[in-house]
Amino acid sequence: MVLLLANFGIIISESKTGVIVITAPRILCPQLRERIMSAKEAAALIPSGVNVGMSGFTGAGYPKAVPQALAEHIREHRDRGENYRISVWTGASTAPELDGALAEVDGIEMRLPYQSDPVCRQKINEGRMEYIDIHLSHVAQHAWSGFFGKLDVAVIEVAGVTEDGKLIPSSSIGNNKTWIDQADKVILEVNHGQSSGLEGMHDVYYGTALPPRRKPIQMTAPDDRIGEKYLLCPPEKVIAVVETNAQDRNSRFSDPDENSRRIAQHLLKFFEMEVEDNRLPQNLLPLQSGVGNIANAVLAGLNDGPFENLTAYTEVLQDGMLDMLKSGKLRMASATAFSLSPEANRELARNIDFYRERIILRTQEISNHPEVIRRLGIIAMNGMIEADIYGNVNSTHVMGSRIMNGIGGSGDFARNGYISVFMTPSTAKGGAISTIVPMVSHVDHTEHDVQIVVTEQGLADLRGLAPRQRALKIVENCAHPDFKPKLLDYFERACASGRGMHTPHLLGEALSWHQRFEETGQM
Ligand code: COA
Repeated sequence: MVLLLANFGIIISESKTGVIVITAPRILCPQLRERIMSAKEAAALIPSGVNVGMSGFTGAGYPKAVPQALAEHIREHRDRGENYRISVWTGASTAPELDGALAEVDGIEMRLPYQSDPVCRQKINEGRMEYIDIHLSHVAQHAWSGFFGKLDVAVIEVAGVTEDGKLIPSSSIGNNKTWIDQADKVILEVNHGQSSGLEGMHDVYYGTALPPRRKPIQMTAPDDRIGEKYLLCPPEKVIAVVETNAQDRNSRFSDPDENSRRIAQHLLKFFEMEVEDNRLPQNLLPLQSGVGNIANAVLAGLNDGPFENLTAYTEVLQDGMLDMLKSGKLRMASATAFSLSPEANRELARNIDFYRERIILRTQEISNHPEVIRRLGIIAMNGMIEADIYGNVNSTHVMGSRIMNGIGGSGDFARNGYISVFMTPSTAKGGAISTIVPMVSHVDHTEHDVQIVVTEQGLADLRGLAPRQRALKIVENCAHPDFKPKLLDYFERACASGRGMHTPHLLGEALSWHQRFEETGQM
Protein backbone atom coordinates (compact mmCIF):
# COMPACT_ATOMS: atom_id res chain seq x y z
CA MET A 1 0.00 0.00 0.00
CA VAL A 2 1.37 3.42 -0.87
CA LEU A 3 -0.67 6.52 -0.07
CA LEU A 4 0.68 9.75 -1.44
CA LEU A 5 -0.56 12.96 0.14
CA ALA A 6 0.61 14.90 -2.88
CA ASN A 7 -0.28 18.35 -1.65
CA PHE A 8 1.95 17.90 1.36
CA GLY A 9 4.55 15.61 -0.23
CA ILE A 10 4.07 13.06 2.51
CA ILE A 11 4.30 9.36 1.60
CA ILE A 12 2.68 6.79 3.89
CA SER A 13 3.64 3.27 2.91
CA GLU A 14 3.56 -0.20 4.35
CA SER A 15 6.81 -2.17 4.32
CA LYS A 16 6.99 -5.90 3.49
CA THR A 17 6.97 -6.65 7.21
CA GLY A 18 3.78 -4.65 7.72
CA VAL A 19 5.45 -1.62 9.31
CA ILE A 20 3.83 1.70 8.40
CA VAL A 21 6.49 4.11 7.11
CA ILE A 22 5.82 7.83 6.99
CA THR A 23 8.29 9.68 4.78
CA ALA A 24 8.79 13.38 5.44
CA PRO A 25 8.02 15.81 2.64
CA ARG A 26 10.88 16.17 0.16
CA ILE A 27 9.40 18.81 -2.14
CA LEU A 28 9.27 21.99 -0.11
CA CYS A 29 8.92 24.41 -3.03
CA PRO A 30 5.17 25.14 -3.53
CA GLN A 31 5.62 25.92 -7.24
CA LEU A 32 7.17 22.51 -7.90
CA ARG A 33 4.65 20.67 -5.72
CA GLU A 34 2.03 21.81 -8.21
CA ARG A 35 3.78 19.80 -10.93
CA ILE A 36 3.58 16.45 -9.14
CA MET A 37 2.17 13.74 -11.41
CA SER A 38 2.51 10.03 -12.08
CA ALA A 39 5.49 8.54 -13.93
CA LYS A 40 3.13 7.54 -16.73
CA GLU A 41 1.89 11.10 -17.18
CA ALA A 42 5.45 12.43 -17.09
CA ALA A 43 6.70 9.84 -19.61
CA ALA A 44 3.97 10.85 -22.05
CA LEU A 45 5.56 14.34 -22.14
CA ILE A 46 8.66 12.88 -23.86
CA PRO A 47 7.97 12.69 -27.59
CA SER A 48 9.64 10.37 -30.07
CA GLY A 49 12.82 11.60 -31.73
CA VAL A 50 14.09 13.80 -28.90
CA ASN A 51 17.41 13.87 -27.07
CA VAL A 52 16.96 13.11 -23.39
CA GLY A 53 19.63 13.80 -20.77
CA MET A 54 19.15 11.50 -17.81
CA SER A 55 20.87 11.42 -14.45
CA GLY A 56 22.74 8.29 -13.39
CA PHE A 57 26.29 7.15 -12.90
CA THR A 58 27.46 3.57 -12.21
CA GLY A 59 24.05 2.48 -11.07
CA ALA A 60 23.50 5.42 -8.72
CA GLY A 61 21.11 8.35 -8.86
CA TYR A 62 19.38 7.36 -12.10
CA PRO A 63 15.64 8.03 -12.62
CA LYS A 64 13.77 4.84 -11.82
CA ALA A 65 10.10 5.37 -12.64
CA VAL A 66 9.94 7.63 -15.71
CA PRO A 67 12.26 5.51 -17.94
CA GLN A 68 10.23 2.38 -17.15
CA ALA A 69 6.97 4.21 -17.84
CA LEU A 70 8.52 5.57 -21.04
CA ALA A 71 9.52 2.03 -22.09
CA GLU A 72 5.90 0.96 -21.61
CA HIS A 73 4.71 4.01 -23.58
CA ILE A 74 7.14 3.11 -26.39
CA ARG A 75 5.97 -0.50 -26.36
CA GLU A 76 2.35 0.62 -26.81
CA HIS A 77 3.34 2.77 -29.80
CA ARG A 78 5.35 -0.06 -31.33
CA ASP A 79 2.42 -2.43 -30.91
CA ARG A 80 0.45 0.03 -33.03
CA GLY A 81 3.23 -0.17 -35.64
CA GLU A 82 4.66 3.29 -34.86
CA ASN A 83 8.37 3.96 -34.61
CA TYR A 84 9.20 5.61 -31.26
CA ARG A 85 12.83 6.12 -30.29
CA ILE A 86 14.82 8.63 -28.28
CA SER A 87 18.51 9.30 -27.73
CA VAL A 88 19.73 8.83 -24.18
CA TRP A 89 22.59 10.82 -22.68
CA THR A 90 23.65 10.12 -19.09
CA GLY A 91 26.58 10.50 -16.73
CA ALA A 92 27.68 6.88 -17.16
CA SER A 93 26.10 3.44 -16.68
CA THR A 94 22.65 3.19 -15.13
CA ALA A 95 20.57 0.08 -14.41
CA PRO A 96 17.97 -2.33 -15.83
CA GLU A 97 15.16 0.14 -14.98
CA LEU A 98 16.67 2.67 -17.40
CA ASP A 99 19.09 1.27 -19.98
CA GLY A 100 17.68 -2.25 -19.80
CA ALA A 101 14.00 -1.23 -20.02
CA LEU A 102 14.48 1.22 -22.91
CA ALA A 103 16.84 -1.07 -24.86
CA GLU A 104 14.46 -4.00 -24.42
CA VAL A 105 11.76 -2.16 -26.41
CA ASP A 106 14.30 -0.93 -28.98
CA GLY A 107 13.57 2.57 -27.73
CA ILE A 108 17.13 3.94 -27.86
CA GLU A 109 18.34 5.44 -31.13
CA MET A 110 21.66 6.66 -29.76
CA ARG A 111 23.33 6.23 -26.40
CA LEU A 112 26.23 8.14 -24.82
CA PRO A 113 28.70 8.32 -23.07
CA TYR A 114 29.08 4.98 -21.18
CA GLN A 115 26.93 1.94 -20.52
CA SER A 116 27.39 -1.51 -19.05
CA ASP A 117 23.92 -2.97 -19.55
CA PRO A 118 23.78 -6.44 -21.16
CA VAL A 119 20.72 -5.64 -23.31
CA CYS A 120 22.23 -2.35 -24.51
CA ARG A 121 25.52 -4.12 -25.21
CA GLN A 122 23.73 -6.71 -27.34
CA LYS A 123 21.80 -4.07 -29.34
CA ILE A 124 24.94 -2.02 -29.90
CA ASN A 125 26.92 -5.05 -31.06
CA GLU A 126 24.06 -6.10 -33.36
CA GLY A 127 24.15 -2.63 -34.93
CA ARG A 128 20.65 -1.77 -33.71
CA MET A 129 21.71 1.07 -31.42
CA GLU A 130 24.29 3.80 -32.06
CA TYR A 131 26.75 4.36 -29.24
CA ILE A 132 29.19 7.24 -28.76
CA ASP A 133 31.82 6.10 -26.28
CA ILE A 134 33.80 9.14 -25.13
CA HIS A 135 35.98 10.33 -22.25
CA LEU A 136 33.64 11.28 -19.44
CA SER A 137 35.39 14.62 -18.92
CA HIS A 138 34.59 15.55 -22.53
CA VAL A 139 30.84 15.04 -22.40
CA ALA A 140 29.76 18.44 -21.05
CA GLN A 141 32.08 20.33 -23.38
CA HIS A 142 30.90 18.37 -26.43
CA ALA A 143 27.30 18.95 -25.42
CA TRP A 144 27.90 22.70 -25.03
CA SER A 145 29.58 22.71 -28.45
CA GLY A 146 26.47 21.10 -29.92
CA PHE A 147 28.11 17.95 -31.31
CA PHE A 148 25.27 15.75 -30.06
CA GLY A 149 22.49 18.09 -31.20
CA LYS A 150 20.01 19.95 -29.01
CA LEU A 151 19.06 18.57 -25.63
CA ASP A 152 15.28 18.57 -25.41
CA VAL A 153 14.41 17.04 -22.05
CA ALA A 154 16.33 16.29 -18.84
CA VAL A 155 15.09 13.59 -16.47
CA ILE A 156 16.94 13.97 -13.20
CA GLU A 157 16.68 12.10 -9.91
CA VAL A 158 17.13 14.31 -6.85
CA ALA A 159 16.95 13.65 -3.11
CA GLY A 160 14.68 16.63 -2.47
CA VAL A 161 13.74 20.20 -3.34
CA THR A 162 14.28 23.10 -0.93
CA GLU A 163 11.67 25.75 -0.23
CA ASP A 164 13.31 28.14 -2.68
CA GLY A 165 13.40 25.52 -5.44
CA LYS A 166 17.04 24.38 -5.18
CA LEU A 167 17.57 20.70 -6.00
CA ILE A 168 19.30 18.43 -3.49
CA PRO A 169 21.40 16.09 -5.66
CA SER A 170 21.07 12.36 -5.28
CA SER A 171 23.69 9.59 -4.99
CA SER A 172 25.43 10.75 -8.16
CA ILE A 173 25.85 14.05 -9.97
CA GLY A 174 27.47 13.11 -13.28
CA ASN A 175 26.26 15.50 -15.99
CA ASN A 176 23.11 16.66 -14.17
CA LYS A 177 24.15 20.30 -14.04
CA THR A 178 24.85 20.32 -17.77
CA TRP A 179 21.59 18.53 -18.65
CA ILE A 180 19.51 20.90 -16.49
CA ASP A 181 21.26 23.95 -17.98
CA GLN A 182 20.87 22.76 -21.57
CA ALA A 183 17.47 21.10 -21.69
CA ASP A 184 14.36 23.01 -22.68
CA LYS A 185 12.28 20.99 -20.22
CA VAL A 186 13.11 19.21 -16.99
CA ILE A 187 11.38 16.26 -15.35
CA LEU A 188 12.37 15.60 -11.74
CA GLU A 189 12.17 12.32 -9.90
CA VAL A 190 12.28 12.98 -6.18
CA ASN A 191 13.41 9.75 -4.56
CA HIS A 192 12.38 9.25 -0.93
CA GLY A 193 14.58 6.14 -0.93
CA GLN A 194 17.73 8.27 -1.03
CA SER A 195 19.05 9.46 2.33
CA SER A 196 17.91 13.00 3.11
CA GLY A 197 21.30 13.34 4.81
CA LEU A 198 22.90 13.61 1.37
CA GLU A 199 22.07 17.32 1.57
CA GLY A 200 25.33 19.24 1.90
CA MET A 201 27.59 16.50 0.54
CA HIS A 202 27.74 17.85 -3.02
CA ASP A 203 29.84 20.51 -4.69
CA VAL A 204 28.34 21.69 -7.97
CA TYR A 205 30.73 23.97 -9.83
CA TYR A 206 29.10 26.62 -12.02
CA GLY A 207 32.30 28.22 -13.33
CA THR A 208 33.09 26.12 -16.42
CA ALA A 209 33.10 27.79 -19.83
CA LEU A 210 34.26 27.08 -23.36
CA PRO A 211 37.55 28.56 -24.62
CA PRO A 212 38.59 31.35 -24.78
CA ARG A 213 36.67 32.22 -21.60
CA ARG A 214 38.04 29.45 -19.42
CA LYS A 215 39.41 30.22 -15.97
CA PRO A 216 41.65 27.98 -13.84
CA ILE A 217 39.76 25.45 -11.69
CA GLN A 218 40.65 26.69 -8.22
CA MET A 219 41.49 23.39 -6.57
CA THR A 220 44.81 22.42 -5.02
CA ALA A 221 43.59 19.60 -2.76
CA PRO A 222 40.92 16.87 -3.13
CA ASP A 223 38.90 18.37 -0.27
CA ASP A 224 38.65 21.89 -1.72
CA ARG A 225 35.06 23.00 -2.21
CA ILE A 226 34.56 25.39 -5.12
CA GLY A 227 30.83 25.26 -5.89
CA GLU A 228 27.24 25.07 -4.68
CA LYS A 229 25.62 22.42 -2.50
CA TYR A 230 22.60 22.34 -4.81
CA LEU A 231 21.68 22.00 -8.46
CA LEU A 232 20.06 25.17 -9.72
CA CYS A 233 17.09 24.98 -12.07
CA PRO A 234 14.59 27.71 -13.01
CA PRO A 235 11.23 26.34 -11.74
CA GLU A 236 9.51 27.32 -15.01
CA LYS A 237 11.61 24.70 -16.84
CA VAL A 238 10.21 21.90 -14.69
CA ILE A 239 7.30 20.26 -16.50
CA ALA A 240 6.79 17.31 -14.15
CA VAL A 241 7.75 16.11 -10.70
CA VAL A 242 7.45 12.40 -9.94
CA GLU A 243 7.88 10.96 -6.47
CA THR A 244 9.59 7.59 -6.06
CA ASN A 245 10.80 5.47 -3.20
CA ALA A 246 13.34 3.09 -4.66
CA GLN A 247 16.88 1.90 -4.11
CA ASP A 248 19.81 2.28 -6.50
CA ARG A 249 21.12 -0.76 -8.40
CA ASN A 250 23.43 -1.52 -5.44
CA SER A 251 25.06 -4.70 -6.79
CA ARG A 252 27.02 -6.97 -4.49
CA PHE A 253 30.78 -7.30 -4.85
CA SER A 254 32.15 -10.80 -4.75
CA ASP A 255 34.81 -11.49 -2.12
CA PRO A 256 38.30 -10.93 -3.55
CA ASP A 257 39.51 -14.11 -5.29
CA GLU A 258 43.12 -15.29 -5.25
CA ASN A 259 44.01 -13.39 -8.46
CA SER A 260 42.59 -10.10 -7.16
CA ARG A 261 44.40 -10.54 -3.87
CA ARG A 262 47.70 -11.15 -5.66
CA ILE A 263 47.20 -8.13 -7.92
CA ALA A 264 46.54 -6.03 -4.80
CA GLN A 265 49.70 -7.39 -3.12
CA HIS A 266 51.89 -6.52 -6.12
CA LEU A 267 50.49 -3.02 -6.19
CA LEU A 268 50.92 -2.46 -2.47
CA LYS A 269 54.53 -3.62 -2.62
CA PHE A 270 55.10 -1.22 -5.52
CA PHE A 271 53.67 1.69 -3.49
CA GLU A 272 55.91 0.78 -0.53
CA MET A 273 58.96 0.85 -2.80
CA GLU A 274 57.92 4.19 -4.27
CA VAL A 275 57.68 5.64 -0.77
CA GLU A 276 61.06 4.15 0.16
CA ASP A 277 62.58 5.74 -2.96
CA ASN A 278 61.00 9.11 -2.05
CA ARG A 279 58.92 9.14 -5.22
CA LEU A 280 55.66 9.11 -3.27
CA PRO A 281 54.89 10.70 0.11
CA GLN A 282 54.08 8.48 3.12
CA ASN A 283 50.36 8.97 2.57
CA LEU A 284 50.78 8.37 -1.20
CA LEU A 285 48.92 10.75 -3.54
CA PRO A 286 45.14 11.01 -4.09
CA LEU A 287 43.82 7.67 -5.31
CA GLN A 288 41.56 7.01 -8.27
CA SER A 289 40.12 3.56 -8.48
CA GLY A 290 38.06 2.03 -11.28
CA VAL A 291 35.06 -0.08 -10.43
CA GLY A 292 34.84 -3.86 -10.14
CA ASN A 293 36.10 -6.65 -7.97
CA ILE A 294 39.82 -6.17 -8.60
CA ALA A 295 39.61 -2.48 -7.74
CA ASN A 296 37.69 -3.37 -4.59
CA ALA A 297 40.37 -5.94 -3.65
CA VAL A 298 43.09 -3.30 -4.06
CA LEU A 299 41.15 -0.99 -1.74
CA ALA A 300 40.76 -3.83 0.77
CA GLY A 301 44.55 -4.36 0.56
CA LEU A 302 45.15 -0.66 1.20
CA ASN A 303 42.77 -0.81 4.16
CA ASP A 304 44.93 -3.54 5.73
CA GLY A 305 48.18 -1.95 4.54
CA PRO A 306 50.69 0.43 6.14
CA PHE A 307 49.55 3.73 4.58
CA GLU A 308 47.64 6.26 6.68
CA ASN A 309 45.87 9.55 6.07
CA LEU A 310 45.11 8.71 2.44
CA THR A 311 42.85 10.74 0.16
CA ALA A 312 40.87 9.83 -2.95
CA TYR A 313 40.08 11.95 -5.99
CA THR A 314 38.12 9.51 -8.05
CA GLU A 315 35.06 9.00 -10.17
CA VAL A 316 33.20 6.34 -8.24
CA LEU A 317 33.13 5.60 -4.55
CA GLN A 318 32.61 1.90 -3.93
CA ASP A 319 32.49 -0.35 -0.85
CA GLY A 320 36.26 -0.49 -0.38
CA MET A 321 36.50 3.28 -0.04
CA LEU A 322 33.64 3.42 2.45
CA ASP A 323 35.49 0.78 4.53
CA MET A 324 38.65 2.87 4.38
CA LEU A 325 36.80 6.01 5.47
CA LYS A 326 35.30 4.06 8.36
CA SER A 327 38.65 2.68 9.47
CA GLY A 328 40.25 6.11 9.21
CA LYS A 329 42.84 4.99 6.63
CA LEU A 330 41.19 7.32 4.14
CA ARG A 331 40.85 10.89 5.38
CA MET A 332 38.41 11.99 2.68
CA ALA A 333 37.15 11.06 -0.78
CA SER A 334 35.98 13.14 -3.73
CA ALA A 335 33.92 11.45 -6.49
CA THR A 336 30.94 11.99 -8.74
CA ALA A 337 28.93 8.93 -7.70
CA PHE A 338 28.53 6.08 -5.28
CA SER A 339 28.53 2.47 -6.45
CA LEU A 340 27.70 0.49 -3.34
CA SER A 341 26.50 -2.95 -2.36
CA PRO A 342 23.20 -3.07 -0.41
CA GLU A 343 25.11 -3.51 2.89
CA ALA A 344 27.44 -0.57 2.19
CA ASN A 345 24.44 1.54 1.20
CA ARG A 346 22.80 0.78 4.55
CA GLU A 347 26.05 1.68 6.32
CA LEU A 348 26.13 5.00 4.43
CA ALA A 349 22.54 5.82 5.39
CA ARG A 350 23.09 4.82 9.04
CA ASN A 351 26.15 7.03 9.44
CA ILE A 352 25.43 9.70 6.87
CA ASP A 353 26.60 12.55 9.15
CA PHE A 354 30.02 10.89 9.52
CA TYR A 355 30.37 10.32 5.77
CA ARG A 356 29.06 13.76 4.77
CA GLU A 357 32.05 15.26 6.60
CA ARG A 358 34.42 13.12 4.55
CA ILE A 359 32.86 12.78 1.09
CA ILE A 360 32.38 15.35 -1.67
CA LEU A 361 30.34 14.52 -4.78
CA ARG A 362 31.12 16.73 -7.77
CA THR A 363 29.99 17.08 -11.37
CA GLN A 364 31.87 14.67 -13.64
CA GLU A 365 33.48 17.50 -15.60
CA ILE A 366 35.31 18.35 -12.33
CA SER A 367 35.79 14.84 -10.85
CA ASN A 368 37.45 13.88 -14.15
CA HIS A 369 38.96 17.23 -15.07
CA PRO A 370 42.39 16.79 -16.70
CA GLU A 371 43.68 20.04 -15.19
CA VAL A 372 42.78 18.97 -11.65
CA ILE A 373 43.94 15.38 -12.12
CA ARG A 374 47.33 16.58 -13.36
CA ARG A 375 47.70 19.18 -10.60
CA LEU A 376 46.78 16.85 -7.73
CA GLY A 377 49.05 14.06 -9.04
CA ILE A 378 46.48 11.27 -8.99
CA ILE A 379 47.42 7.59 -8.74
CA ALA A 380 45.08 6.13 -11.40
CA MET A 381 44.18 2.43 -11.10
CA ASN A 382 41.91 0.91 -13.75
CA GLY A 383 40.88 -2.45 -15.14
CA MET A 384 41.49 -3.54 -18.72
CA ILE A 385 40.58 -6.25 -21.21
CA GLU A 386 44.09 -6.74 -22.60
CA ALA A 387 47.50 -5.10 -22.85
CA ASP A 388 50.06 -5.67 -25.55
CA ILE A 389 53.72 -6.31 -25.09
CA TYR A 390 54.53 -2.64 -25.73
CA GLY A 391 52.03 -1.32 -23.19
CA ASN A 392 49.04 -0.32 -25.33
CA VAL A 393 45.82 -1.09 -23.48
CA ASN A 394 42.38 -2.17 -24.66
CA SER A 395 39.68 -1.39 -22.07
CA THR A 396 36.60 -1.64 -24.23
CA HIS A 397 36.48 -4.16 -27.08
CA VAL A 398 36.53 -7.95 -27.16
CA MET A 399 38.25 -9.26 -30.32
CA GLY A 400 38.56 -5.76 -31.72
CA SER A 401 34.93 -5.15 -32.62
CA ARG A 402 32.55 -6.06 -29.82
CA ILE A 403 32.10 -3.35 -27.20
CA MET A 404 32.05 -4.44 -23.58
CA ASN A 405 31.22 -1.23 -21.66
CA GLY A 406 33.13 1.86 -22.71
CA ILE A 407 36.21 3.92 -21.88
CA GLY A 408 34.45 5.72 -19.02
CA GLY A 409 36.86 7.88 -17.08
CA SER A 410 39.85 5.60 -17.49
CA GLY A 411 41.36 7.80 -20.20
CA ASP A 412 40.86 11.01 -18.21
CA PHE A 413 42.79 9.54 -15.31
CA ALA A 414 45.38 7.47 -17.20
CA ARG A 415 46.54 10.29 -19.49
CA ASN A 416 46.64 12.94 -16.78
CA GLY A 417 47.46 11.03 -13.61
CA TYR A 418 50.86 11.01 -11.89
CA ILE A 419 51.03 7.24 -12.07
CA SER A 420 48.71 5.27 -14.35
CA VAL A 421 48.16 1.63 -13.49
CA PHE A 422 46.21 -0.96 -15.51
CA MET A 423 45.34 -4.32 -13.99
CA THR A 424 43.76 -7.60 -15.03
CA PRO A 425 44.15 -11.32 -14.38
CA SER A 426 46.72 -12.67 -16.88
CA THR A 427 44.10 -14.89 -18.54
CA ALA A 428 40.39 -14.69 -19.35
CA LYS A 429 37.70 -17.27 -20.12
CA GLY A 430 38.98 -19.91 -17.74
CA GLY A 431 42.58 -19.62 -18.91
CA ALA A 432 41.82 -19.95 -22.64
CA ILE A 433 42.85 -16.37 -23.53
CA SER A 434 45.98 -14.48 -22.60
CA THR A 435 45.25 -10.90 -21.59
CA ILE A 436 48.83 -10.06 -22.60
CA VAL A 437 48.92 -10.13 -26.40
CA PRO A 438 51.35 -9.18 -29.19
CA MET A 439 49.15 -6.29 -30.37
CA VAL A 440 45.91 -5.17 -28.76
CA SER A 441 42.87 -5.67 -30.95
CA HIS A 442 41.62 -2.16 -30.09
CA VAL A 443 43.52 0.73 -28.47
CA ASP A 444 42.02 2.88 -25.74
CA HIS A 445 45.20 3.87 -23.88
CA THR A 446 48.36 4.16 -25.92
CA GLU A 447 51.78 3.04 -24.73
CA HIS A 448 52.40 6.71 -23.85
CA ASP A 449 49.65 6.72 -21.20
CA VAL A 450 50.37 3.40 -19.52
CA GLN A 451 53.04 3.26 -16.85
CA ILE A 452 52.30 0.20 -14.77
CA VAL A 453 50.77 -3.12 -15.88
CA VAL A 454 49.78 -5.59 -13.16
CA THR A 455 48.45 -9.13 -13.31
CA GLU A 456 48.43 -11.81 -10.62
CA GLN A 457 51.80 -12.92 -12.08
CA GLY A 458 53.51 -9.64 -11.25
CA LEU A 459 53.96 -5.95 -11.96
CA ALA A 460 55.75 -4.28 -14.88
CA ASP A 461 56.98 -0.75 -14.24
CA LEU A 462 57.31 0.69 -17.75
CA ARG A 463 58.51 4.16 -16.78
CA GLY A 464 61.77 5.09 -18.43
CA LEU A 465 61.80 2.08 -20.75
CA ALA A 466 62.02 1.98 -24.55
CA PRO A 467 59.57 -0.27 -26.47
CA ARG A 468 61.72 -3.43 -26.68
CA GLN A 469 62.64 -3.13 -23.00
CA ARG A 470 58.94 -2.74 -22.17
CA ALA A 471 58.08 -5.87 -24.16
CA LEU A 472 60.49 -8.04 -22.21
CA LYS A 473 59.37 -6.59 -18.89
CA ILE A 474 55.66 -7.08 -19.59
CA VAL A 475 56.04 -10.65 -20.84
CA GLU A 476 58.44 -11.66 -18.07
CA ASN A 477 56.50 -10.06 -15.23
CA CYS A 478 52.86 -10.20 -16.27
CA ALA A 479 52.16 -12.99 -18.81
CA HIS A 480 50.77 -16.32 -17.65
CA PRO A 481 53.33 -19.20 -17.87
CA ASP A 482 51.06 -20.96 -20.40
CA PHE A 483 51.48 -18.04 -22.83
CA LYS A 484 54.93 -16.69 -21.95
CA PRO A 485 56.88 -18.91 -24.41
CA LYS A 486 54.53 -18.01 -27.30
CA LEU A 487 54.82 -14.30 -26.55
CA LEU A 488 58.62 -14.44 -26.23
CA ASP A 489 58.83 -16.45 -29.45
CA TYR A 490 56.68 -13.82 -31.22
CA PHE A 491 58.85 -10.99 -29.90
CA GLU A 492 62.11 -12.68 -30.85
CA ARG A 493 60.90 -13.44 -34.39
CA ALA A 494 59.58 -9.89 -34.77
CA CYS A 495 63.02 -8.58 -33.74
CA ALA A 496 64.78 -11.06 -36.06
CA SER A 497 62.66 -9.97 -39.02
CA GLY A 498 64.62 -6.72 -39.02
CA ARG A 499 61.62 -4.85 -40.39
CA GLY A 500 61.78 -2.04 -37.88
CA MET A 501 63.58 -2.34 -34.59
CA HIS A 502 61.82 0.46 -32.70
CA THR A 503 58.57 -1.46 -32.15
CA PRO A 504 59.13 -4.83 -33.83
CA HIS A 505 55.97 -6.51 -35.10
CA LEU A 506 54.87 -9.23 -37.46
CA LEU A 507 51.62 -7.51 -38.35
CA GLY A 508 49.68 -10.39 -39.89
CA GLU A 509 50.62 -12.71 -37.07
CA ALA A 510 49.88 -10.13 -34.38
CA LEU A 511 46.29 -9.80 -35.55
CA SER A 512 45.80 -13.49 -36.26
CA TRP A 513 46.63 -14.10 -32.58
CA HIS A 514 43.08 -12.85 -31.90
CA GLN A 515 41.53 -14.51 -34.96
CA ARG A 516 42.94 -17.86 -33.99
CA PHE A 517 41.00 -17.74 -30.75
CA GLU A 518 37.81 -16.68 -32.46
CA GLU A 519 38.05 -19.47 -35.04
CA THR A 520 39.18 -22.35 -32.86
CA GLY A 521 38.33 -21.29 -29.32
CA GLN A 522 41.99 -21.80 -28.36
CA MET A 523 45.39 -20.32 -29.05
N1 COA B 1 39.24 -11.37 -24.04
C1 COA B 1 37.94 -11.71 -24.05
N2 COA B 1 37.10 -11.46 -23.01
C2 COA B 1 37.62 -10.85 -21.93
C3 COA B 1 38.97 -10.50 -21.84
C4 COA B 1 39.79 -10.78 -22.96
N3 COA B 1 41.07 -10.44 -22.96
N4 COA B 1 39.19 -9.93 -20.64
C5 COA B 1 38.02 -9.91 -19.99
N5 COA B 1 37.08 -10.47 -20.77
C6 COA B 1 35.67 -10.66 -20.43
C7 COA B 1 35.50 -11.50 -19.19
O1 COA B 1 35.54 -12.87 -19.47
C8 COA B 1 34.12 -11.04 -18.72
O2 COA B 1 33.15 -11.65 -19.56
P1 COA B 1 31.87 -12.36 -18.94
O3 COA B 1 31.10 -11.23 -18.30
O4 COA B 1 31.19 -12.94 -20.13
O5 COA B 1 32.41 -13.34 -17.97
C9 COA B 1 34.13 -9.55 -19.05
O6 COA B 1 35.12 -9.40 -20.08
C10 COA B 1 34.47 -8.65 -17.88
O7 COA B 1 35.67 -9.10 -17.36
P2 COA B 1 35.96 -9.15 -15.79
O8 COA B 1 37.14 -10.05 -15.58
O9 COA B 1 34.72 -9.43 -15.03
O10 COA B 1 36.54 -7.73 -15.54
P3 COA B 1 36.02 -6.41 -14.84
O11 COA B 1 34.66 -6.49 -14.26
O12 COA B 1 37.16 -6.03 -13.95
O13 COA B 1 35.97 -5.41 -16.08
C11 COA B 1 36.67 -4.04 -17.87
C12 COA B 1 37.06 -5.16 -16.89
C13 COA B 1 37.87 -3.65 -18.67
C14 COA B 1 35.55 -4.52 -18.78
C15 COA B 1 36.16 -2.83 -16.99
O14 COA B 1 37.18 -2.47 -16.10
C16 COA B 1 35.79 -1.64 -17.84
O15 COA B 1 34.68 -1.55 -18.36
N6 COA B 1 36.74 -0.68 -17.98
C17 COA B 1 36.55 0.51 -18.80
C18 COA B 1 35.95 1.65 -18.01
C19 COA B 1 36.78 2.02 -16.81
O16 COA B 1 37.96 1.76 -16.72
N7 COA B 1 36.12 2.70 -15.87
C20 COA B 1 36.72 3.14 -14.67
C21 COA B 1 37.22 4.51 -14.86
S1 COA B 1 36.94 5.47 -13.46
